[in-house]
Amino acid sequence: MKERIFSGIQPSGNIHLGNYLGAIKNWVKLQNDYDSIFCIVDLHAVTVPQNPEELSRKTLEVAKLYLAAGINPEKSVIFIQSQVPEHAELMWLLNTITKTSDLFKMTQFKDKSAKESMESVSSGLLNYPILMAADILLYDTNLVPVGEDQLQHIELTRKLGRKFNQQFGETFVIPEGFTQEEGKRIMGLDDPANKMSKSAPSQFNRIGILDDEETITKKIMKAVTDSEQGIEYSDSKPALKNLINIFSLVTDKKPEEIVAEFEDKGYKEFKEGLAGAIIDFLKPVQEKYHQISDEEVKAILKSGAEEAKKIAKIKVEEVKKKMGMII
Ligand code: AQP
Repeated sequence: MKERIFSGIQPSGNIHLGNYLGAIKNWVKLQNDYDSIFCIVDLHAVTVPQNPEELSRKTLEVAKLYLAAGINPEKSVIFIQSQVPEHAELMWLLNTITKTSDLFKMTQFKDKSAKESMESVSSGLLNYPILMAADILLYDTNLVPVGEDQLQHIELTRKLGRKFNQQFGETFVIPEGFTQEEGKRIMGLDDPANKMSKSAPSQFNRIGILDDEETITKKIMKAVTDSEQGIEYSDSKPALKNLINIFSLVTDKKPEEIVAEFEDKGYKEFKEGLAGAIIDFLKPVQEKYHQISDEEVKAILKSGAEEAKKIAKIKVEEVKKKMGMII
């Protein structure tokens, strides 16, 4: 029996190069060796306000991007989280063994709630990590390939899984997080101290997977660089290091090779090279994306939800029985 991976992305904005290089790129490789389940986590997206029409559109967009990037529905289950109600059901059950003090410690909650006044923050945003624990534990997941920002949530998932097992008997597989060194934290183009993010206010923070050539070039040419000239891969030049990491991941060249190529050149030539490399990297994905129809993706998502539900239903029944509920 193959081990299982599970992961997902929120349809909460434009999928960016950070999501692609931190998560999706690894999924495409891992699906060959693991029993793979990939979700579009719309129940997570609504923990902050969403425009309903936009949410529906973005949900299909994310699913098409999974397919365009190379997630193969013959090898992997792809579905929409809200179409499998067991996610929300298990979340409620796990709620009862989660300490609120653990939730208030989560970096993502602290960051996102800091952007609003405490009175307007939804309890959904606080409970987000419990839903993520339910997503993962529901499928006896062994490995969760994510970007670095999600590792703290996976630690909580492990804690809840162990706690449930101790209290009610062996039920959940305890999963491991998986990140890939270079792609695990792609930083914002306008702010190398913080990760590239869908919700960052400026478009110049990120490269969208569907950005056109002109936009990509404009964003890269405007990207922050360090004041000192010279192409080097060093922690003392975090902005440049981030750009070299992106260059390396989109070309599969080592950072040293990129430095050697641009050592004697200025930032302008380096950035032109990087913009061209990103355009070449995204072109086939964008072409495939535009070939996939709504009908085609909806059919894949429907059968994915049926597959996922078969596994999820059994697990939730087991949990409820162990907690004393009559099923
Ligand atoms: N900058 C990043 N570098 C590497 N990996 C990243 N991920 C996100 N940003 C980076 C990884 O992408 C996957 C899906 O993320 P998500 O949809 O759950 O959203 P998020 O982690 O909260 O980050 P986003 O995409 O920037 O959205 P907002 O702005 O809404 O928070 C995850 O595996 C994540 O680690």
